[in-house]
Amino acid sequence: MMIRVLPSARRAAEAVARLLAECLAAEPHLVLALPTGRTPVDMYSALVRLHRRGRADFSRATTFNLDEFVGLAAETRASYRAFMRRHLLDHVNLAAGRAHVPRGDAQSPAREAARYERAIADSGGLDIAVLGIGANGHIGFNEPGPTLSARTHVVRLTLGSRRANRAAFGGRTANVPTHAISMGVGTILSADMVVLLATGRAKARIVQKALTGPITTRVPASLLQTHPRCLVVLDRAAAGGLRT
Ligand code: F6R
Repeated sequence: MMIRVLPSARRAAEAVARLLAECLAAEPHLVLALPTGRTPVDMYSALVRLHRRGRADFSRATTFNLDEFVGLAAETRASYRAFMRRHLLDHVNLAAGRAHVPRGDAQSPAREAARYERAIADSGGLDIAVLGIGANGHIGFNEPGPTLSARTHVVRLTLGSRRANRAAFGGRTANVPTHAISMGVGTILSADMVVLLATGRAKARIVQKALTGPITTRVPASLLQTHPRCLVVLDRAAAGGLRT
């Protein structure tokens, strides 16, 4: 595991964006897993800037988002598909058919999860998985518990995760869907490289636990310690709990 600490959240996000642009230049057919949430917003802005300067070409890339809320149609503003359109897809040359997000409004979320997993396999598997981390240690929406799922599955969200997402739902936790479709930890860890971006003081405690604590399903991100090519990019605030 390699840890890079940058002076600010913006610099950390830009470092990940530059890395992705370099990987795209070296391997244009890159297959990426991508996160949503507050943390990657600056990373996507930086990628869009790099694209506008001709330094990030998505024309042959494929992306798979980590998760989507069950029950939300792609057009719904609070959906992760809509988030991706706003922050990345509407601004870069990624073919619509190669930008995958689980269909939250599928009639059978379980069948949709299985279809999504097959689509990842059909694309040749993930080259790079870019992740954020929840305050409870979740990656994707793999919530802490006695067990974890390896493959894309339907997950019941913890109250904390629903609370953390309430801003997109009129500030009301009750409006946040109770379930999501999430890539499983096995699929995430099958990526050739995993990049975790975490910023802000609120993440310092869980970052320390995930990176230096025991490997346990109670802290899903702790499984990243087992990955042979895991890069963790932090700002100083998120690295606050680590001895550097
Ligand atoms: C979202 C995802 C989640 C987030 C995590 C952190 O697609 O996979 O694991 O990365 O909840 O979210 P923020 O960045 O909003 O703190």
